[in-house]
Order: sequence, then structure tokens, then C-alpha cells
Amino acid sequence: MLSAATRVAVNPSRMASRAFVSTWSNVPQGPPDAILGVTEAFKKDTDSKKMNLGVGAYRDDNGKPYVLSSVKKAEQILLDKGLDKEYAGITGLPDFTKSAGELAFGEDSALLKDKRLAITQSISGTGALRIGAAFLSSFYPHAKKVYVPNPTWGNHIPIMKHSGLDLEKYTYFDKETNGLNISGMLEDIKGAPKNSIFLLHACAHNPTGVDPTQQQWDEISQVVKERGHFVFFDMAYQGFASGDCTRDAYALRKFVDEGHNLVLSQSFAKNMGLYGERVGAFSVACADESEKARVESQLKILIRPMYSNPPIHGARLVSTVLNTPELKNEWLEEVKFMADRIINMRNKLRGHLENDFGSKQNWEHITNQIGMFCYSGLTPEQVDQLKDDWHVYLTRDGRISMAGISSHNVKYLAEAIHNVTKN
Ligand SMILES: Cc1ncc(COP(=O)(O)O)c(C=O)c1O
Repeated sequence: MLSAATRVAVNPSRMASRAFVSTWSNVPQGPPDAILGVTEAFKKDTDSKKMNLGVGAYRDDNGKPYVLSSVKKAEQILLDKGLDKEYAGITGLPDFTKSAGELAFGEDSALLKDKRLAITQSISGTGALRIGAAFLSSFYPHAKKVYVPNPTWGNHIPIMKHSGLDLEKYTYFDKETNGLNISGMLEDIKGAPKNSIFLLHACAHNPTGVDPTQQQWDEISQVVKERGHFVFFDMAYQGFASGDCTRDAYALRKFVDEGHNLVLSQSFAKNMGLYGERVGAFSVACADESEKARVESQLKILIRPMYSNPPIHGARLVSTVLNTPELKNEWLEEVKFMADRIINMRNKLRGHLENDFGSKQNWEHITNQIGMFCYSGLTPEQVDQLKDDWHVYLTRDGRISMAGISSHNVKYLAEAIHNVTKN
């Protein structure tokens, strides 16, 4: 039986008269996402030559999304097992987190041997960053501010802010050389208050494609150590920078060897092509096993009200690939294949610009930069011209997703870039 009040609330004539005053009339229109907005505009373009160089997702040489063969085989193994779909624990599947930790830190890492790595599965890299930021915001005793590189992946900023952390930028990219401003970066690290939190892209920096050399990482490690700073590594592209997962983990492992305090966000979106499966990990290097137990208990308390526990399918795939030796070998080759295709496109793009179109601009940075992106140095106006005159879509900061280029359209892109930059 409905109460009198409820009957009034569902009376249709009253509802119609109330509809004029909307509860949400104060909600302002938000701007479109800088990267996903590019894809929206691209979809509306009907020209056959159009190119989407906005989104950071790998494409094969026909411009098509690529499901890795090792992943397909792992999927078949899982299907044949006829597994159930029960909930995972709050920190995910132990087989997955164990292999994710080994891939990042190395199988013989002291952190793993001493059982002092606290680790949880996460909703891909974004989720790992979000858990990490929440953990630091709750427990890091010295600061409530994170230093991020200038520029950085756009989403770092709201992720940190949503978790209650302030942000400051440290010098990173040098517009004059389209490379790293290492002296500015080291100065900013030195100048920050002791025990600050520094977010470092472990490899294949997004959006610039500019990474420190191994020697520069050693210098960075030393200065970070001297100042007692805390490092938050974001490793969304392990394997994508050089084609070699061990080489790409150089900075992370160096910092561990040097005894740094650090946390790590990992993603399997790019290196296993598992974008939509949302599988990643967040880990905390602890002093000993009992500290690890305490940290893990707090990670569980943070995660439980966020999403309770993570999805299982992607984690099963990763764990099957990494724990089946033939599949792991095949996967490592596929990562190299993807990275090499991108390196090949860099060489071709620069070659066409310089040799076929005789561009007089300096395009060295196209081949010097690494990973999925090229920070081209194109101005926002030139980016607009590429879109309007050539049907080529990229973000207005001039970032080109190299994975969107193929041997079929690289010359067309070079022609387009040459035309908008020649005057
Ligand atoms: C630097 C960086 N960190 C983290 C991520 C997170 O990606 P995902 O949540 O898809 O794993 C990305 C994705 O573009 C990235 O570029």
C-alpha cells in the first residue's frame, strides 16, 4: 500500500508541472576530453584519406586494431579450462600480481625475494594511479603535493586532484631542441622541498616521446636520493619504448637497487593490447614483510569502497601469457614487433619529409623520440590546418600517435606536414 506522500509524488499531472524545474539545471556543459574529442571529430569526417593520430592505441600496418597472437592463444586456453566467474579477492588474482611484479622489477628482485612488495591488481594504469594517489594522500607523511613533468599525460592532473593531492610541474621538455631539458629537470628536483613526491614516467614518456638516457637516469636517481624525495613511477608502456621489457624497466630497477622509496603504476593496455580489458597493477616497495602486510591491508580498505574487486578476465589472460613459457616468448617477440613497426614509421616519416618533400625544418626529433608518441613541435594553428586541409587529426599540442601511421599513409602525412610547416 502506497503512503499518501508517495501517491502524491507519482501523480502524473503533478510530475508534468514539476518537470519545468530541473534538478540539474545548474550543471554546466563540460569541455570534451582533449584526446577522445579528436576521435569524435575524426569519425564525422567522410574523406577516404583521413587519419586519426590522436588516440594512443596500437594499429597494424593496415590501420586496424591488433589482438596479439599470444593473447588469442591464452584466451583459448582459458576457454578450454571452463573456469567459473566468481569474484576475485580485493587485490585481484595472486597469479597475476605475482607475474606483474616479476615483469616490472625482475624475477630476481630483492623486493620479491624478501616478500616486501605490496601489490594489487587495478583497473588498468589509470586505476593503479588512482589507488596510488589515494594511498599517498592518506599515508605519505611528508607532503600532499605531487611534482609532475611539464608536460605530462593529461589525466595525471585530475587523477591526483581527485585524490586530494596538489600538483606542481617540474621542467622536462625543451621546446628549442624537442628533447629533454635535463639541467632544468635536475634543478627543479634539487629545488623542491625535501621529501617531495615526484611522478616519473618510467619509459616512453607521454606526450613527448622523450626519455632520459640511462646515464641521465643515474643522475636523476642520485639527486632524488640526496633530497630524500619519494618517487611515483608510472610505467604504462613497458616494452613499447625499446621493444625490450627489461631495458624499458631500467629506471625502475635502478631506483630499487639504489634503495629508493617508491611506488609503481603498471598497465597491460598497450604492451599486451588489452586496452578494454582494464588490467594493471599498483605496487609499493616496503621495508620488510610486516610493513608489506600493513600496506596491503590499507590498500584493501581503499579499494573496497571504490570498486570492491577487479575484473578477472584480463588478469587471467596476462597471467596465462606470462606463466606459459612458449606464450611469454611469443609475447616478447610481439612487443618487439610492435615497437619496431613504430620505429620504422618514424624513419619513414622523417625520410619522406627530408628527401621526398625537401623540408628544410629540423626533423631529427621524430627519430630521436621513442615510444608511441612524437611531440612534433607543430603549433595549434598548424594542427588545425592539418585537420581542415588534409583530414589529419591530432591533439592541439602537436602530439602524433605514431601507432596510427602505416606504410600506406606515411608519405601522405609527410606531404601534409610539409605543407603546413613550409612557410
Ligand atoms: C602515461 C600514461 N599513464 C597511464 C596511462 C593509463 O592507461 P590505461 O588506464 O589505459 O592503462 C596512459 C594511457 O594513455 C598513459 O599514457
